[in-house]
Amino acid sequence: MAKGSKSVFFCQSCGYESTKWMGQCPGCGEWNTFVEEIIDTKKPAGARRTKTDAKPVKLSEINMSGERRITTNIEELDRVLGGGVVPGSLTLVGGDPGIGKSTLLLQVCRNLSLNGKKVLYISGEESLSQIKLRAVRIGDFNGNLELLCETNLGVIHEVIKRQKPDIAVIDSIQTMYNEEVSSSPGSVSQVRESTAVLMQIAKGLGISIFIVGHVTKDGNVAGPRVLEHMVDTVLYFEGERHASYRILRGVKNRFGSTNEIGVFEMQHNGLMEVKNPSEYMLEGKPEGASGSIVTCSMEGTRPILIEIQALVAPSNFGIPRRTTAGTDFNRVNLLMAVLEKRAHLNLSASDAYVNIAGGIKMNEPAIDLGILLAIVSSYRDIVISDKVVAFGEVGLSGEVRAVNMADQRVREVKKLGFETVILPAVSMRSIKRESQMKFVPVKNISDAIRFIV
Ligand code: TYD
Ligand code: MG
Repeated sequence: MAKGSKSVFFCQSCGYESTKWMGQCPGCGEWNTFVEEIIDTKKPAGARRTKTDAKPVKLSEINMSGERRITTNIEELDRVLGGGVVPGSLTLVGGDPGIGKSTLLLQVCRNLSLNGKKVLYISGEESLSQIKLRAVRIGDFNGNLELLCETNLGVIHEVIKRQKPDIAVIDSIQTMYNEEVSSSPGSVSQVRESTAVLMQIAKGLGISIFIVGHVTKDGNVAGPRVLEHMVDTVLYFEGERHASYRILRGVKNRFGSTNEIGVFEMQHNGLMEVKNPSEYMLEGKPEGASGSIVTCSMEGTRPILIEIQALVAPSNFGIPRRTTAGTDFNRVNLLMAVLEKRAHLNLSASDAYVNIAGGIKMNEPAIDLGILLAIVSSYRDIVISDKVVAFGEVGLSGEVRAVNMADQRVREVKKLGFETVILPAVSMRSIKRESQMKFVPVKNISDAIRFIV
């Protein structure tokens, strides 16, 4: 090894640093995640020029006028960002390969450039002609968008300084490399150093930067979590490979709430916004089938109706099989235990499968009552009317607990033509009762079960 460099091992999952290789990471408990990297020791990493003229500013003296948001004209994205792009912010867009990250960002570039912003799209993955091919499918572009195929961060830094765009896109962080770091692109130290450089560019020059990050098998952005700590906003793009819709979810946001989701559909000419996700999610709902009920989940400020399906069948083996798709496995097991103890259903000899139709992931406690009624409906083989919606959190004593924003949920239920809503009795007082809906307030699961059987 050359003088002035040393070998260090990094955990690819959490960024834990060690001088020797280890089988299990003491930081995150993952196995076989350590890789060796050669570090330059001549110059201590992270050394920065110390400024001596720095002085604190009074909060009241800070000028807010610079904090305008830049709208992307994609409402679903703006909402997840908290109202638009913040100038000088660093946003990470993660997701599986082929989910549509490059497509979304190219559409953002198009809209922003049409709005008169200067945009620079830097790709380390595709050639200019490949980007052009994609762009042709999306629509017409104007002269404000410039493209660069480059992976050397030093060059990128120079180009950004010279061109001074308002927005820059880096596709993807795993292909970028910093000459000062000796390890290969995509390694922990490269990803970390590259992000640090981009952070300086964003904050120093006031340029909003979007970074594309690939996701590993288990759903984390490849490279260490440090990457997530460094950026201002982390968005995940998720969806089933065979379904055409895509969900954009905020995981971290320094400038807004992280509860919001954006819903898109991948079409032949790019990603289209889905402004009425409930209608979209309920498409193809079976009629007259047992084990199915519609519930309402609040995603940020927006209620979304989803169909819950359950299949409960006698088990052929000693230990019953339980599977869930789209919701929390442990939560479903808990609800089944509540059913067994409080409603005296004999589920211990039954296999149970619970699925959120459409492949969307929902974990809000308010969908408990929907899951529970779907299981009862399948177990007893009774059909719940397709005009009924149920929501409410279920507690361990079988009580149905209040949910937030009950009124918004009821309005969405009404808008989509449902007639009856089963809801926690305690949530009734927050509901404006002018509507012609039929309300079934329930205090515990027995009340709810009695209504459907
Ligand atoms: P892409 O944006 O390249 O994904 P990522 O950057 O996340 O890897 O998306 C590629 C997929 O999207 C590919 O399977 C083709 C599909 N696609 C469409 O269906 N319609 C389109 O208009 C575009 C541009 C892509
Ligand atoms: Mg891509």
